[in-house]
Amino acid sequence: MTDDTRPFVAVPLPAAAIDEGELVTTTLPSGMKLCLGRHQGALFAVKDECPHAEFPLSEGTLYPSGELECCWHGARFDCRTGAVRGGPTDLPLVRFEIEDRDGSLWVRRAI
Ligand code: FES
Repeated sequence: MTDDTRPFVAVPLPAAAIDEGELVTTTLPSGMKLCLGRHQGALFAVKDECPHAEFPLSEGTLYPSGELECCWHGARFDCRTGAVRGGPTDLPLVRFEIEDRDGSLWVRRAI
């Protein structure tokens, strides 16, 4: 049981807009840009900003291994955990919990 009552925020994008292996960007009402994707059927959401030099991750590549590569300097991350897998940064991705509620997406910052 969890006592985490932080609210989720609606994502202005339906779940159906995110295909396997693709990256999509969207903007929350707060102005935060998200990079969303689907790997092995599971959705993920991270801040659409590479921790190395803030390039949009949604312009990168999601590999079948689950590695998300930033296309500017080649930093690579695990799309599920946000952990660094290689490249010029030691900083992990800013991750969000994501829920698909009958086709509508909701997120909140992962802790
Ligand atoms: S901005 Fe992403 S690797 Fe440099």
